[in-house]
Amino acid sequence: MIIDPAAAGSGTGESMFDALLMHFAGNQNSDDLDPRVVKALRAEFERSEFFGEDMRRLWAMCEKVVVQSGRIPGGKGKSINLLNLACGYCEEGAVLSAFWGRGGRRVRQFAMDLRHAEIDKARRRYAATERMFAAAGLRKIRRRDEGIDVEFIADDATHLVGYGEIPEYYDVVFIRHQNLWHDRAVWQRIYEFALARIADDGILLITSYFDREHLLALELIKSLGGKVLVTERNPSSRELSYPGKSIDRHVAVIARNEVT
Ligand SMILES: C[S@@+](CC[C@H](N)C(=O)[O-])C[C@H]1O[C@@H](n2cnc3c(N)ncnc32)[C@H](O)[C@@H]1O
Repeated sequence: MIIDPAAAGSGTGESMFDALLMHFAGNQNSDDLDPRVVKALRAEFERSEFFGEDMRRLWAMCEKVVVQSGRIPGGKGKSINLLNLACGYCEEGAVLSAFWGRGGRRVRQFAMDLRHAEIDKARRRYAATERMFAAAGLRKIRRRDEGIDVEFIADDATHLVGYGEIPEYYDVVFIRHQNLWHDRAVWQRIYEFALARIADDGILLITSYFDREHLLALELIKSLGGKVLVTERNPSSRELSYPGKSIDRHVAVIARNEVT
């Protein structure tokens, strides 16, 4: 099922469940899927700890800001390269692949974090998600030339070299909950790297936990040559126990400033 990815990128309203279903079914035509399997999966999905409210809200925010940005990362191409930097245990790995894969696009996601333990957890989490879909009877059909969905890499975010066939540029660079306050120099280096890796028409999508940290991140990114296309406060962001901190509190889309 290949539909116009440009249309998919500009918000077809396809639900997170449908997109995940297609992703884990290897984009088989949904009419070919056994309705009992789909029903069982939907029930599983509703219960799943992996796709709780935070993921649904992140999905909705991504949809909103990407549409507002007017950008169509990857254009009408059949595949898209996605770089997820400082991904931690990568709660959003499957969700991002499903989001950017709408319309039947192949998503090549590379997810990096400095901490090996987090990357191990991320790998196990993604594998468990795949098993959830497989257990319900959904077998991903992969073309022979397709590699794994997400390449998890334990390394410094700016050391993206020497890992086989890694693209140089990415249609989407994603950084969730940066930690600018913790070490500004490190995050400056990560933002510089992220901006340098954005493909033509690509975007950097960031989220932040705090109001002030988000503003500082945007100021820093602008000073490094980024152009803020959209920034939105997430109205249904889940509050955490630390005052003023909440999940994906702000989400922004950034492009590279064109050098004239
Ligand atoms: C606040 S956590 C966010 C993790 C994840 N993106 C999330 O939203 O849950 C910041 C992450 O940055 C990672 N990190 C810090 N410095 C890094 C670096 N130089 N390269 C890669 N990851 C780094 C940390 O290991 C940590 O997982």
